[in-house]
Amino acid sequence: MSFLKEIQRRRTFGIISHPDAGKTTLTEKLLLFGGAIQEAGAVKSNKIKKGATSDFMEIERQRGISVATSVLAFEYNGIKINILDTPGHKDFAEDTFRTLTAVDSVIVVIDVAKGVEEQTEKLVEVCRMRNIPMIVFVNKMDREGKDAFDLLDEIEQKLGLTVVPLSFPIGMGYEFKGIYNIWEKNINLFSGDSRKDIEETIEISDLDSSELDKLVGEKAANTLREEIELVEGIYPVFDKEDYLNGKLQPVFFGSALNNFGVRELLDCFVEIAPKPRPKQSEERLVEPKEDKFTGFVFKIHANMDPNHRDRLAFVKIVSGKFERNKAYLHVRHNKKMKFSSPNAFFAEKKEIVDISYPGDIVGLHDTGNFKIGDTLSEGENINYKGIPSFSPEHFRYINNADPLKSKQLFKGIDQLMDEGVAQLFTLELNGRKVIGTVGALQYEVIQYRLEHEYGAKCTYENLNVYKACWIDPKNSKTEEYKEFVRVKQRFLAKDKQNQLVFLADSPFSLQMTQQKYPNIKLHFTSEF
Ligand code: G4P
Repeated sequence: MSFLKEIQRRRTFGIISHPDAGKTTLTEKLLLFGGAIQEAGAVKSNKIKKGATSDFMEIERQRGISVATSVLAFEYNGIKINILDTPGHKDFAEDTFRTLTAVDSVIVVIDVAKGVEEQTEKLVEVCRMRNIPMIVFVNKMDREGKDAFDLLDEIEQKLGLTVVPLSFPIGMGYEFKGIYNIWEKNINLFSGDSRKDIEETIEISDLDSSELDKLVGEKAANTLREEIELVEGIYPVFDKEDYLNGKLQPVFFGSALNNFGVRELLDCFVEIAPKPRPKQSEERLVEPKEDKFTGFVFKIHANMDPNHRDRLAFVKIVSGKFERNKAYLHVRHNKKMKFSSPNAFFAEKKEIVDISYPGDIVGLHDTGNFKIGDTLSEGENINYKGIPSFSPEHFRYINNADPLKSKQLFKGIDQLMDEGVAQLFTLELNGRKVIGTVGALQYEVIQYRLEHEYGAKCTYENLNVYKACWIDPKNSKTEEYKEFVRVKQRFLAKDKQNQLVFLADSPFSLQMTQQKYPNIKLHFTSEF
């Protein structure tokens, strides 16, 4: 197959949701359609079960599983689909944000009873900012939930989306009879436990036909007619370009658990979802069809096997072909590297591959050369952007608990930070090291991994910080800046890239500082 055809048949996306909305179940059903797995339950969930917060080993074990499910690839009707896994647990939200830099589109799963939940709001906001095309799947229609129109309103209001229903439920919960597929203009009836092959698809070109009354009963048929009329009256007509530009979001209804409405979603997805998209680098826009390879690291996963300390760096291929054993430029280190065993990912396994194409993800074994955001190329000095750090939520001093192992401790901290586990700040005043994290869970992860992978011990000490704000060095020559640095020295630190950061201890002090030094620009992300 030609290079261009290989690119055009790829769809790389992520499924995002609040925990428990049904992301894992939906993923599994999609894989079943692709024939990538044979039975339900084959995909191990990498989600961290409720109540696991205190059981650290369990979390690590489950994160270990997640290496295997980081990328799930399968073929459907000649299309190569790559699903990038995104952890739902909020303590790993940064992992998800970074993964979103590697997807070309997303599917948002919403629980019909719970509606729009907190984690969904945050993730959708990130997608909206980047104009990532989104399809919404309203799940659990077999349960009693919110009225479809109310829910569509809620999605528009809370998520700031412009929705267009492409399917519509016929009843819900006990009364759930099926789905009217607006996209294909046919009806799918629900028979309780429909399986992979849904045979009940019935073509209805005219909703007014009496056939409909026979199938679902007069009452349900009339309700559906009214509802579809309303849908046509209220919502815009679906426009593929608007969807691709992030201006409009199609909505499907269904029940992942019962495999209902999933085929409709998948069929529409392969038809409308974007092929690998061009990506902006600091230097220029890079097109997938360019013949020279470029790609970037969006995720690094530690090996869970203590005997093999290497890590797996996940690289999204942006342009050109990635070939095994070919020398590529590690742009940040200005160093050529070859990879003898790049991994490609499939539904249940990973395998060494010779060639990968734009849209694909390869896993490269790494002994500490990579950090998140690194770019690889065939020689061009190119740097992909768009993986900023956000201000952490928690801050603690990290202390060395074994003076003989300080070298190991520093190496460990250095590598864990490159993996993106947490952020390191070094205080200007006394050089003390502060670890900032999104969730409290990461402190346990760091402590455990320092001990087991690097032979170093650490303790923590609480530190009262409300937010880390990156300081714009633009006005650093002014008197105001100099005074700010002198007066606030106690609150200043350097991040790992040597950028100056202000650690505000309360919303009040942040506000006062901004008032007192109006020309010092404070930013809540590391890229500005
Ligand atoms: P997540 O990855 O988004 O966190 O959600 P997951 O798929 O694990 O689904 C969360 C729970 O919701 C699971 O039940 C799952 O079986 C259920 N579920 C998913 N889709 C549907 C649906 O369409 N209808 C109904 N009624 N339930 C659905 P659980 O009891 O928490 O887990 P499990 O013990 O079944 O694995």
